[in-house]
Amino acid sequence: MNAAPAPRSETEASGQHDGGYTGPARHVAIIMDGNGRWAKKRLLPRAVGHKRGVDAVREVVRAARHMGLEALTLYAFSSENWKRPEDEISDLMGLLRAFIRSDIDEFAANDVRLKIIGNYKVLPADIVAMIEDALARTAHNSRTTLAVALNYGSQQEIARAAAAAAAKGEVTVATIEAELDTADMPPLDLLIRTSGEVRLSNFLLWQAAYAEMWFTDVLWPDFTPGHLREALDHYATRERRYGGR
Ligand code: FPP
Repeated sequence: MNAAPAPRSETEASGQHDGGYTGPARHVAIIMDGNGRWAKKRLLPRAVGHKRGVDAVREVVRAARHMGLEALTLYAFSSENWKRPEDEISDLMGLLRAFIRSDIDEFAANDVRLKIIGNYKVLPADIVAMIEDALARTAHNSRTTLAVALNYGSQQEIARAAAAAAAKGEVTVATIEAELDTADMPPLDLLIRTSGEVRLSNFLLWQAAYAEMWFTDVLWPDFTPGHLREALDHYATRERRYGGR
């Protein structure tokens, strides 16, 4: 198990930040984009791009664990992805089933805790059952948290968190933060998006407030642990000011 890195400062421990040079990244999130273009370039069906995308997920999760990341959050299916053609949605759900089936033992054996952000309960019932089994099996693991965003939308998450904070009588940054899906995770340090697109697409809008950003032209199926290393090396050179100077 990793020793939990100390907060970077006392103000960070209290939920605020006073800036300074970064320690090692604790929490990385990735918008995995470009599966379709990867397939198109090779005259292959989009489904093949998604399948190769899952292979990249597997390698990157392993690498995150080896690199000592406390948390990795992956954008697998957004609340807007339901607008895609039915057969593509069905391909993605099939891949999700296969991924949980084939990889859960590895997570369980390697101290990886699976977490889902977003409302996964509206997914097909058999997937919900598989997810709940996987969550229970890995709940006590603590080396790396793998948070998979499923039917996730950040604006919806923030609205829901603000409403929950209001229902408890106090709306502040801290009380909203405590209601976010990521409340039990370290602050987001680094957000990566592949495929050359430079936007957040309703992903971790609140959590990204002070995160470093890393945009790369690499299409997701081509993303390797080496690319993750490159992004983390870049992160390590950044001085984060959190609005101070
Ligand atoms: C973007 O590619 C990617 C997605 C819609 C979702 C990412 C999904 C996976 C990597 C596979 C499923 C993941 C798991 C964890 C089982 P795109 O189709 O938008 O690519 P394009 O922009 O090139 O068309």
